[in-house]
Amino acid sequence: MSQITLNLDNAASFIDTDLSDKYAGKTRDILQKMEKNSDKADEFLGWIDLPEKIDNEILDKIENTARQFKENYEAVVLVGIGGSYLGARAVIHALSPIFKNAYTDNPEVYYAGQNLDEDYHYELLEELQDKDYGVVVISKSGTTTEPGIAFRLLKQDLERKMGKEEAAKRIIAITDAKKGALRKLADEEGYTSFSIPDNIGGRYSVLTSVGLVPIALAGHNFRDMIEGAENMRKVTTSEVPFGENMASQYAAIRNELYARGKVIELFGTYSTRFHYIQEWWRQLFGESEGKDGKGIFPSSVEFTTDLHSMGQYIQEGHKMIFETILSLYSTDQILAVPSRDDDTDQLNYLAEKPVHEINIMAESGTRLAHVDGGVPNITLGIPRITAYNLGQLLYFFEKACAISGNLLGVNPFDQPGVEAYKKNMFALLQKPGFETVSENLLKRVNPHDQKERLF
Ligand code: PA5
Repeated sequence: MSQITLNLDNAASFIDTDLSDKYAGKTRDILQKMEKNSDKADEFLGWIDLPEKIDNEILDKIENTARQFKENYEAVVLVGIGGSYLGARAVIHALSPIFKNAYTDNPEVYYAGQNLDEDYHYELLEELQDKDYGVVVISKSGTTTEPGIAFRLLKQDLERKMGKEEAAKRIIAITDAKKGALRKLADEEGYTSFSIPDNIGGRYSVLTSVGLVPIALAGHNFRDMIEGAENMRKVTTSEVPFGENMASQYAAIRNELYARGKVIELFGTYSTRFHYIQEWWRQLFGESEGKDGKGIFPSSVEFTTDLHSMGQYIQEGHKMIFETILSLYSTDQILAVPSRDDDTDQLNYLAEKPVHEINIMAESGTRLAHVDGGVPNITLGIPRITAYNLGQLLYFFEKACAISGNLLGVNPFDQPGVEAYKKNMFALLQKPGFETVSENLLKRVNPHDQKERLF
């Protein structure tokens, strides 16, 4: 089976520390502690053993549900936000044909609940007007505003079209086993439902039903993905020495670069299929590490597109950046540059070369230029875009992120800062329980945001 690889050569040259001397013991202790506590309810470490321990009955239920949807509906709307959305979208986008949102002959996938954009919701309902569709609503808390609003709109649309009973047959709820508004609704209305384990937080949940149900509905091989994750689990345990443990090494080099003023990490890719892997990665590292006034700022660039927009800054701007490049060895399709007798565009020197070969040369050239420009480069190699390899990749990042947050001295499993905007928004919207909107808060609101703008 193919293996994701990590190459630190172009980053290690920026530091004068022996990573193994400094981090082998620390990372092993962190891993041992996490492994020991993985079953504890309040530690949010349930994801660590998940690929190995995943319940086969749940996998069968996921498979059956996906089969049923494929047989009956032409489209499915996935409703969720943050950790309840990005993992599934990342995998579906990476594995589906580029101009489709699902594998051939499977229900076409739409997304909702990831924003509060009125036009988006309006046009989505219009788009779904003549489509026979089902809905998967995902929310661990069951009370998040964005998916809550989207689900209300879609539920109303389905119920108007086909009545409450038929609508309920087309809705799948993925939420807490016992608590929350969505669990209550799912039980009352008899939706097919899946439970999210208590000890797994949103951004670490792609290998639970949160990620697996949508991935299966889009027709992708979630069992291969779990197998890939299991492979990565085995090669990143506390028993694997630092020199062979890519999760520990990635966590260590990030922290070492951060200590040297490299406070921004750019996750770069050269394939459009990785677009939502980048979004998922940004959430994983951003919410896990950005706290207590600390943390590398995770950003992303899609090359070669962004070489024509961000390339200048990366090459010659402030030296606070390092890059992690996801390097794809081979593509599924082969397409060569055609030869032309006229050669007016002077591209005949590339004639008959596969486009991917040119992309690889762009990647190598850029890596050398950026390293010469003072930008350390970490390279992750991925042989091909398959479910198995994506399973490895996602688990690798989860493990590395947890180690990295611990090295930094923050709790990588909470996100207290996310509540600040919600508190203000609820107060301004006069949500029950938030009536004590202080005069001060209202006075500070930009006049542009006041009621007159709304009508
Ligand atoms: O990673 C997280 O915990 C968050 O991004 C959540 O997944 C996100 O806020 C959605 O929460 P919920 O699943 O409760 O609707």
